[in-house]
Amino acid sequence: MYSLSILVGALGLLLNSVGAIDVDWTSDSSIKSAASTIAYGLVKYYTGNNTGDVPGNLPDPYYWWEAGAMFGTLIDYAAFTGDKTYNDITFQALQHQVGDDADFMPSNQTKSEGNDDQGFWAMAAMTAAEMNFRNPDPDKPQWLALVQAVYNEYVGRWETDDCGGGMRWQIYTFNNGYNYKNSVSNGCFFNIAARLAKYTGNETYAEWANKIFEWEQSVKFINDNWNVLDGAGNANGENCTKINGAQFTYNAGLFLYGTAAMYNHTNGAEPWKTRLEGQAKSVASIFFQDGVMWEPSCEKTPAKCNTDQQVFKGHLSRWMALTSIIAPITADTFMPLLKSSAQAAAKVCTGPASSDYKGPDGTACGFSWLDKTFDGITGVGEQMNALQTVMAPLVHLAQAPYTSETGGSSQGNPNAGATDSEKIKQPKPITTADKAGAGILTALALGGLLSGMWFVFIDEK
Ligand SMILES: *[C@@H]1O[C@H](CO)[C@@H](O)[C@H](O)[C@H]1NC(C)=O
Ligand SMILES: *[C@@H]1O[C@H](CO)[C@@H](O)[C@H](O)[C@H]1NC(C)=O
Ligand SMILES: *[C@@H]1O[C@H](CO)[C@@H](O)[C@H](O)[C@H]1NC(C)=O
Ligand SMILES: *[C@@H]1O[C@H](CO)[C@@H](O)[C@H](O)[C@H]1NC(C)=O
Ligand SMILES: *[C@@H]1O[C@H](CO)[C@@H](O)[C@H](O)[C@H]1NC(C)=O
Repeated sequence: MYSLSILVGALGLLLNSVGAIDVDWTSDSSIKSAASTIAYGLVKYYTGNNTGDVPGNLPDPYYWWEAGAMFGTLIDYAAFTGDKTYNDITFQALQHQVGDDADFMPSNQTKSEGNDDQGFWAMAAMTAAEMNFRNPDPDKPQWLALVQAVYNEYVGRWETDDCGGGMRWQIYTFNNGYNYKNSVSNGCFFNIAARLAKYTGNETYAEWANKIFEWEQSVKFINDNWNVLDGAGNANGENCTKINGAQFTYNAGLFLYGTAAMYNHTNGAEPWKTRLEGQAKSVASIFFQDGVMWEPSCEKTPAKCNTDQQVFKGHLSRWMALTSIIAPITADTFMPLLKSSAQAAAKVCTGPASSDYKGPDGTACGFSWLDKTFDGITGVGEQMNALQTVMAPLVHLAQAPYTSETGGSSQGNPNAGATDSEKIKQPKPITTADKAGAGILTALALGGLLSGMWFVFIDEK
């Protein structure tokens, strides 16, 4: 009887898993096939390459930054798996969104664009350079030059009037969050400065990376336990003292991977070694429960993660995986966590095809991996998190991120970026109509990256 019930149980499991994504975790090709199913379900959300649609945009409710994040993910997906299916749409999208000044500030987005939004597109371009993604024609903006443009504009937005430095979250005064300095915007700046240092060998970038990191520590956005906290207000004399201490996976990932790049750039020297080890320990303790990654600020309590927050986790996975390559001292800690998370993530990709999910029936990924059952939450974020995590164990198959010394072919321009100081630092005088338009955009869109945070603010009051 005993063995019969086991048999029946096993049969039941088999039947249940029809349509689910079954993976043999000892087989790279099986993992690739799982990643390919998840990527297919992800890209089904994208309509930007349809006739009449705008390349690079995701449909509502996904904001522009998330599309940038998705194309960065797809470049690494191609590098990790060898599957180039999405290279054409990725190339088209990244080039379409460069904007008139080749700095990822396209006019359709500018009014509601924050430093972090621009940063996620810049990091996708950095990934393109590092992975030797197809180079644009010589008369078009090159990946490296695009990143340098954003970097140069960030330098112009560094502000020492309060908080001893730092960039604001928003670029423009009329957007919510202008009076907030935060880890995501400064983390994007840090991440690209560090990766530019590693890629080009130019020490100016390395000096800025160090300056940004030290500033984050000085205002305690990076605290003594190497935890990365969200940010603080800089108006009304607050001077970044009232810290919003929420911790998010992607903030930790931004600083972790930038630190790994600096660690590598300095050949493992201090202070980067200590910074890297500290952050590795912090990440492993804050963002994992029984070996499964989660988003502690909103996954279970006190509220549900919003659309933006639903896509943070995957970035930590991908950046941990890449960190284990450029800073192999972290591999023994990170790879087991990534593998157990990958298994948990794949287990919850069992949701049905629906009006939301257009991938194969039984393969929609849920949001939380902790309970190992599909929680009914689907979308671009859920697919992207699962993709970046399921493909993480394949990172060793990819070429380690190139630098200009090891064969990276992207052409740079250290002086790229807008010369218009108003565009860099502050808004042009705006009309009432502009303002109204932006207000609506703000309400809709700028919930943006941080608005996820507003509930935290409310809770604290
Ligand atoms: C858009 O790209 C997807 C993924 O590569 C492809 O399947 C689809 O056919 C493309 N659509 C058009 C209209 O070209
Ligand atoms: C801006 O929006 C217009 C109208 O939707 C569209 O035709 C154009 O392609 C967009 N430009 C960019 C760079 O997204
Ligand atoms: C504001 O904060 C910075 C950084 O912590 C500090 O150096 C500066 O003295 C502070 N200014 C005031 C007026 O408290
Ligand atoms: C730097 O990265 C390369 C991979 O690109 C790796 O082989 C090397 O060990 C790393 N350096 C250090 C100090 O870890
Ligand atoms: C290094 O980067 C800085 C900052 O962008 C730039 O001014 C300088 O020209 C660069 N040096 C070289 C040799 O490219």
